[in-house]
Amino acid sequence: GLPASVRIHEVGPRDGLQNEKATLPVAVKAEFIARLAAAGLRTIEAASFVHPKWVPQLADAEELFPQLAELPAKYPVLRLPVLVPNERGLDRALANGVGDIAVFASATESFARRNLNRGVAESLEMFAPVVRRATEAGVPVRSYVSMAFGDPWEGPVPIDQVVSVGCALLELGSTELSLGDTIGTGTPGQVAALLAAFADRGVGPERLAVHFHDTYGQALANTLAALQGGVRTVDASAGGLGGCPYAKSATGNLATEDLVWMLHGLGIETGVDLDALAATSAWLAGELGRPSPSRAVRALTG
Ligand code: HMG
Ligand code: MG
Repeated sequence: GLPASVRIHEVGPRDGLQNEKATLPVAVKAEFIARLAAAGLRTIEAASFVHPKWVPQLADAEELFPQLAELPAKYPVLRLPVLVPNERGLDRALANGVGDIAVFASATESFARRNLNRGVAESLEMFAPVVRRATEAGVPVRSYVSMAFGDPWEGPVPIDQVVSVGCALLELGSTELSLGDTIGTGTPGQVAALLAAFADRGVGPERLAVHFHDTYGQALANTLAALQGGVRTVDASAGGLGGCPYAKSATGNLATEDLVWMLHGLGIETGVDLDALAATSAWLAGELGRPSPSRAVRALTG
């Protein structure tokens, strides 16, 4: 059956903004995050500590974090995770007082090389000391496995490959694994099959999250399949922003507003004030100079 509540892992300030042509002023990013928190989101992926040349849109993470300093006192359960690819990124995150990080692997060699400049095995080797050191510092680590359904260079990705990279990430010591449909080609039957394959390897849905990009309009249907399969953590991006600059044909994430509309319609609690959230995305769309791709944002604020 369906759950009574769902935890939304908001990725707009990271996945959303990393793919915009324009780099927003750091004060606008800080206001975006503060407004997301005010709208009730309690896990907000705030930035990434990757190489600044690889993702210039997020190169100002060191300037951003001091501007978020008052949020933890205001919202005691708020988590502000960041992406970290390597030990250099971890050092930067720890120096900024970050309390949660995420590492990000690929199920395919093609994307691993493009996104991390090394193959799958070498990227797992790069993450191992990151997960170990973060855990020792009391910082929980989420892991992503990208290209969990399809890959733009390799086509459909074999389930075994996804499960094997996913299990390796959990074995390194990460507390949660997010299944990334980076290019949005997955469909609900594939979601059910992937969850079943993880269960066969002893990984239940309580350790999994889902991360759908909406390229083919499948994100909500896929989310419902994941909820029916027992998943309780869903990634989404305010206003439907997002994509990966290193993944050909990746478009925006599942819009948080579209997700919240469906969940509330199903009687599932999220803690999110949908009107406040949609107003935030409409405001941000103005800052970015383009309309939000989210259907719910347009319906609620048009
Ligand atoms: P590399 O060039 O192989 O790095 O890049 P390196 O280890 O060889 O180091 C080269 C230089 O970069 C060194 O400087 C390092 O210090 C510096 P030098 O000694 O030459 O002066 N350096 C750094 N500087 C600052 N911060 C760092 C850092 N690391 C090295 N963290 C690297 C390898 C992983 C760094 C690079 O490939 C990278 O930054 N990739 C990030 C790509 C990215 O952010 N992609 C988007 C996120 S993934 C995504 O969106 C998918 C997701 O949403 C899920 C889904 O949808 O499926 C998560
Ligand atoms: Mg993504």
